[in-house]
Formats: sequence, C-alpha cells, structure tokens
Amino acid sequence: MKTVLTALLLLLATPVLAQGPAPGNPAPGNPAQSNTAPASPPPMAMAANSSATDVHLGVASCAGNNCHGAVQPAKASRVAQNEYLIWAQKDKHSKAYAVLLEDRGKRIAANLGLPDAEHAEICLNCHADNVPAAQRGPQFQISDGVGCESCHGGARSWLGTHISGVGHAANLAAGLYPTERPQARAERCLGCHLGDEKRNITHQIMGAGHPPLGFELDTYTAVEPAHFVVDQDYIERKGRPDDAQVWAVGQAMDVRQRMVELLDPKNVPKGLQPELVLFDCQACHHPMDQVQWRARKSTDLPPGRIRLYDATAVMLKVIAKRTAPELADKLTQHLTALHKATNDDWSAVQREAVIIRDTADQLIPQLAKHQFTVEDGRALAQAVIDNATSGDDLDYSAAQQQTMALSSILAAMKLQGLVDAAHLKTMNDALGGVYQAVQGDQAYKPDTYVAALQKFTATLSP
Ligand code: HEC
Ligand code: HEC
Ligand code: HEC
Ligand code: HEC
Repeated sequence: MKTVLTALLLLLATPVLAQGPAPGNPAPGNPAQSNTAPASPPPMAMAANSSATDVHLGVASCAGNNCHGAVQPAKASRVAQNEYLIWAQKDKHSKAYAVLLEDRGKRIAANLGLPDAEHAEICLNCHADNVPAAQRGPQFQISDGVGCESCHGGARSWLGTHISGVGHAANLAAGLYPTERPQARAERCLGCHLGDEKRNITHQIMGAGHPPLGFELDTYTAVEPAHFVVDQDYIERKGRPDDAQVWAVGQAMDVRQRMVELLDPKNVPKGLQPELVLFDCQACHHPMDQVQWRARKSTDLPPGRIRLYDATAVMLKVIAKRTAPELADKLTQHLTALHKATNDDWSAVQREAVIIRDTADQLIPQLAKHQFTVEDGRALAQAVIDNATSGDDLDYSAAQQQTMALSSILAAMKLQGLVDAAHLKTMNDALGGVYQAVQGDQAYKPDTYVAALQKFTATLSP
C-alpha cells in the first residue's frame, strides 16, 4: 500500500500538460487515469480462467514487436502497441513471480513451513497465471508472473479473431475478457487483491510477513501503470470511461466479496480467534503511545473491541446515499448491526452479511448504469471529506480509501473536461498533501490528515 501511494505521489508531481497523457505515463498532473467503459454485463457473464479450452499462450506470444512489444507507441495503430514494455519495465505484475524467489518471499514461505514459495500453490495462485498444466501453451512460462492473460484471459480462443482485426465485439465474443467493464475488471483484480474462493489470504500469511492488501479499482488501474490511452478511437471502440463509476462499482464489488468471505465456512471462528484478516489491521497494529480510540456512530462499538475492516463499506454508503438513497439507509443500518454482531455471535454476523451482500448485489448494476455528473463528483468528494472531518471515519484504513476516492473523482472530472488545467493543478497539489498524510500506517496522524483534507476542500469550488 505504501508503495502504491508513493507511485501516486510521483504521478501527482508530474506537471499538467496541455494534451492527453503519454502512454505509460498516466494522466500527467492527475493522480488517476481514465479507464473503463459504460454498461456492465450480468455478474456471472465473465468466466474465470478455468475452462479446459481456455489455453494460455504466455507473455511471449503477445510481445512481438509488431504486436504489443513496440518500443515507442505506434502512431498508425489503434492501440499503442507498447503495452508489453510498460508491463515488463514499470508494472509490478511482471515481477510477481520473481518476488517469491527473493528474501521476503523466502522468509514468508519459511515462516509458514513451506519448502519454498515458488512451488507453493497458495502463492502461485496470486503471483502468477497459475492455470493447470493442460491449459498451458508451448510458450507459457510460470515465471512470467501476472502476465497479459491473467487479466485478458487465455489467448488461444481469441487470438485468431484478434489478429484478423474484426473488432472488439468479436474479440469479446471469442473469449477476450472485458477488462474495460468496471464490474468485470473488479472481479478480476479483486480475485488476487482481496482473494476469492480459490485464492485465500489469511492472517497467518500476514503474520508470516506478507504485506497488507489494500485496493481501490480506479486508483490501482492508474498506478499499475495503465498501458492504455483513452483517446477518441478508444472511446469509439469501448465507450467513454468514467473513473467515478469505476471507483463506485469497485467499492460495491469489494464489499460484496468481503461479505462472501464472512459467510465462508472456513472463516467461522475457531477457538478464541476469528479470521483476523477480515478485521481492521490498524485496530490492533498501531503504536500504543498514541491512543486513537474514538466513538463512531457507524460501528457503535465500545472501546477495546476488534473491528471488522469497513473502509470500503463506508465509501459505499457515501456512494449509495448519492445514487440510491433507499439502499443507502439499508446499508447503513445493517453495517452497524454487523459490527455489533461481532460482539454477539457468528450466526448474527452471517445474517447481517447476507443482507449486506444482497444490497451490494442490488447496487452493482445500478452503479454500472449511473451517469456520474459533475454535480455528483463535487457532492461525492464533499461527502467523502465530511465523512472524515466529522471524526466518524478517521482510522488509517478509512483515510486510505478516502484519499484514493478523491483521486478517482478528480480523474473523472478531468476526463469529462470539467476542470481547466490551472484549477486541476491546484487541486492536485492539495491532494498531494493528503497523500503525504497517509503514506505509512505507523506514522499516520489523524489531525495532520484532516488539516491536509481541509486544504484540499478549499480548492474544490470552481
Ligand atoms: C490472495 C492473493 C495472494 C496470495 C495468496 C499471496 N499473495 Fe503475495 N501479494 C499479493 C498482492 C496483491 C500483493 C501486492 C500488494 C500491494 O502492494 O497492494 C502481494 C505482495 C507480496 C509481496 C511483496 C512484493 C513487493 O513487491 O513488495 C511478497 C514478498 C509476497 N506477496 C509473497 C507471497 C508469498 C510467499 C505467498 C505465499 C505464501 C503469497 N505472497 C501469497 C497477493 C497474494
Ligand atoms: C493486471 C491486469 C492486466 C495485465 C497483467 C495486462 N493488462 Fe492489458 N489491460 C488491463 C486493463 C484494466 C485495461 C484497460 C481496460 C481495457 O481497455 O480493456 C487493459 C488494456 C489493454 C489494451 C487495450 C488498449 C486499447 O486502446 O484498447 C491492450 C492492447 C492491452 N491491455 C494489452 C496487454 C498486454 C500485451 C499485456 C501483457 C504484456 C497486458 N495487457 C497485461 C489489464 C491488464
Ligand atoms: C493473478 C493475480 C492478480 C491479478 C488478476 C491482478 N493483480 Fe495486481 N498484483 C498482484 C500481485 C501478486 C502483485 C504484487 C507484485 C509485486 O509487488 O511483485 C500486484 C501488484 C499490483 C499493483 C502494485 C501495488 C504496489 O504496491 O505498488 C497494482 C497497482 C495492481 N497490482 C493493480 C491491479 C489491477 C488494477 C488489477 C486488475 C486490472 C490487478 N492488479 C489484477 C496480483 C494480481
Ligand atoms: C485482533 C487483532 C489483530 C488484527 C485485527 C490483526 N492482527 Fe496481525 N497480529 C495480531 C497478533 C496477536 C499477532 C501476533 C503478534 C506476535 O506474534 O507477537 C499479529 C501478528 C502480525 C504480524 C507479524 C508481526 C511480527 O512482528 O512478526 C503481521 C505482519 C500482521 N499481524 C499483519 C496484520 C495485517 C496485515 C492485518 C490486517 C489484514 C492484521 N495483522 C490484523 C493481531 C491482529
């Protein structure tokens, strides 16, 4: 997480340019880059990397210099064609396997009693494109790490259509994964950045030394860094992206998956301890010379209780309040009940989790259709800020999500051409201060953060 924020600070430091962003250098002067497209398919329309016909050909098969391996962005082509170089040089996904061989990876494996990390399924499922042997083509290399097909789907089924150039719809029909759709993208990224039924991160793995997983769909797409450019041609092929919508759908999908985790029988508390990975890390891991406890309306928990991680749910409440008020009330009520239930018994937790999961399920298609206007952007930014300055949600995890939310909203406003370059620069500079305040969890000071937020708020009005 710390590294993501550092990467964002670097993006923020880039001066505002007159034209659009250079490929691989997302949104100069702006923390988040444009991604996505409008309509979203029904939840289960995207198949995971699983069917036996879904063969993964390996990064080498995409990296030819006439394909996606160009050194410079191609002028005559619809896509920049330098996607491979961006991935290989700047994207941590290309190092995801390599880290398993480094000291930190070795240490985690040793602490878990594994012979090594690079052969352990538990690690490979998230650190590589770990499809079964039968689905690996001749050029497939597990050492590619999180390669093109981890996100875009096994290429054998769609490569022919893709090379023939008939168009995006035909590629999708042939099996290319719809990464431009917020919901589909969220499902894909969260599978590794939060976990799913196949990929499981536990407090035991964290305790062994694994870094915490923090995620926000829009911000993480920008800092990957993005290897796509939103120009007119992109918009014609895939629709106009909306960073606010990507953020909103990403939050709803995150909350949904967290509820699924709470309902998973493997996470039922054993002995004294529930599965701590579902709880807020800093609720336990923060310096004891700084007493930070404060009463929160939204959790209604007494001091000294462990608290479920709810930073994304808090954002979803804000989003729902603006876009679907009837569901917002339900969400608010049941999230409070969920926190209280952790004091009672696990069956109460599960009852509440079902309701919240189903509410998120109702919200997802609505958010995927919602046209976020500039008024929405301003109102949402203000609501995110109020959330913090009211003192209700000022924990480190909440501050992280609020900060990434603001950068997504700003990116949306930029892409819609709603703020001029000078105003954008003022806002970005102020947002840089907010990012500084959430750089590291141990050094985090709520007061410094609120002060930085207030400076940012002052730049919001035109
Ligand atoms: C649920 C998916 C998941 C599992 C399981 C998982 N990881 Fe990770 N790992 C991640 C993600 C995502 C990150 C990047 C987190 C971030 O920075 O936001 C990461 C980061 C790391 C890092 C830090 C890399 C860096 O650049 O600093 C190491 C080391 C690591 N993992 C090792 C392991 C090992 C060893 C295992 C097996 C015991 C493992 N991981 C299991 C998803 C996973
Ligand atoms: C971590 C997930 C991920 C990985 C890994 C990944 N991509 Fe992407 N890719 C995306 C996302 C997200 C987008 C933006 C949404 C879209 O247009 O589909 C995208 C967009 C693209 C585009 C579309 C550009 C356009 O103008 O339409 C191309 C081409 C592309 N990726 C090629 C590659 C290649 C080649 C690799 C491997 C070297 C790769 N990607 C690896 C997630 C990924
Ligand atoms: C197959 C699993 C997998 C998928 C799918 C995946 N990631 Fe990752 N991602 C990882 C791992 C593992 C790392 C850590 C790599 C490392 O640090 O060496 C990582 C790292 C990152 C980082 C760098 C984080 C940091 O601390 O600097 C970003 C940003 C990121 N992913 C964004 C995305 C986005 C956006 C998507 C979806 C479009 C996505 N990822 C899909 C596994 C995955
Ligand atoms: C209920 C309190 C609680 C929560 C919530 C919690 N932890 Fe822990 N954590 C502990 C305890 C207890 C230990 C064991 C400490 C020891 O062995 O000295 C521990 C150990 C660790 C360690 C190893 C520390 C060391 O010095 O070796 C790491 C890293 C860690 N936790 C990360 C996390 C992350 C990341 C999260 C959130 C996803 C989290 N923890 C959530 C209580 C918690």
